[in-house]
Amino acid sequence: MKINQSFRVLVASVLGGAFGLAMGSAQAQDVSAGKQVFTQCAACHSIDGSNGAGPSLQGVFGRKVGSFPGFRFSRAMKGNGKTWDDKMLEAYLAEPQKEVPGNVMPFSGIPDAKQRADLIAYLKTLK
Ligand code: HEC
Repeated sequence: MKINQSFRVLVASVLGGAFGLAMGSAQAQDVSAGKQVFTQCAACHSIDGSNGAGPSLQGVFGRKVGSFPGFRFSRAMKGNGKTWDDKMLEAYLAEPQKEVPGNVMPFSGIPDAKQRADLIAYLKTLK
């Protein structure tokens, strides 16, 4: 009885360890999956600080909406006043026109929640 119990504890901790590892690698994959999703954005958004059809997304996480130097933002973006955090990116990437009405980004959004989460994980790495 006693042996049986400690065997169970052992099995549980081995499984727990394996699960932990799987979680870790799942997180790493999110960033690379997000990089894949970003191919939809790359035509307009650079990650190296240079502006194109859209503002560079280098360092976008944590910066004020519509503030990137040298890019002519719409009034809607410039006047938004919020910051690109998790919640704001999630809402904007789901429905750009709903979150920032009147912004001029010609992109209708990413309907898939997992793809948005992966993309945001990737955007956070752009420093
Ligand atoms: C066809 C071009 C185009 C595509 C594709 C595009 N964007 Fe944009 N994006 C823009 C433009 C233009 C703006 C500026 C909008 C404004 O000023 O109203 C913008 C603005 C943004 C901003 C605000 C940046 C800031 O500094 O405030 C974010 C964030 C953003 N886009 C993310 C994305 C992501 C992520 C994707 C891909 C899923 C994407 N965009 C796809 C053109 C594009």
